[in-house]
Amino acid sequence: MKYRILHYGEEPLKKVSEPVNDIDNDIKILVKDMFETMYAANGVGLAAPQIGKNIRVVVIDCGDDPLAMINPSIIKKKGKEKGPEGCLSFPGLSENVIRATNVVAEYIDPEDGELYEVEAEGLLARAIQHEIDHLNGIVFVDRMPEARRSQIKNELDIIKRGGSLRSETEEEEETDDSLFEAR
Ligand code: NI
Repeated sequence: MKYRILHYGEEPLKKVSEPVNDIDNDIKILVKDMFETMYAANGVGLAAPQIGKNIRVVVIDCGDDPLAMINPSIIKKKGKEKGPEGCLSFPGLSENVIRATNVVAEYIDPEDGELYEVEAEGLLARAIQHEIDHLNGIVFVDRMPEARRSQIKNELDIIKRGGSLRSETEEEEETDDSLFEAR
């Protein structure tokens, strides 16, 4: 089942999410639905608050292995780099954000309920930091300098009203792609 993705400004995106205590069948179904929702929107990451559920569940797929993380946390980080970032709750917006270059994160895998560690750099490290921020009620524009946030105020207002910064043509192309990928 595909969920509606919340836009910037909606309440669940501002809340700190609760840890998951039981890895039951509902969680496994939720993870599957979150992947479906993320792929249909051509995203590389999605956190449960983005579909209105304030629990600590994240899915990521930067093109290698799909990663589902329950109760994820960053246990080590190193370096800093500025790079472009987007978010499914901000359709069409891409902005530079400073993140750690390398991270080690631990999480519970919903498949076996075991605790794992993942070492990441580059896009995956960025995605892990971005998605864990969502679990703490932080969105990527919160990581930008105030001056930049003021500059893009109009764009942010459009998104808050439920709009997208992408042109209609791009939206149509995206729909075609997602149909193709869903097969
Ligand atoms: Ni996001």
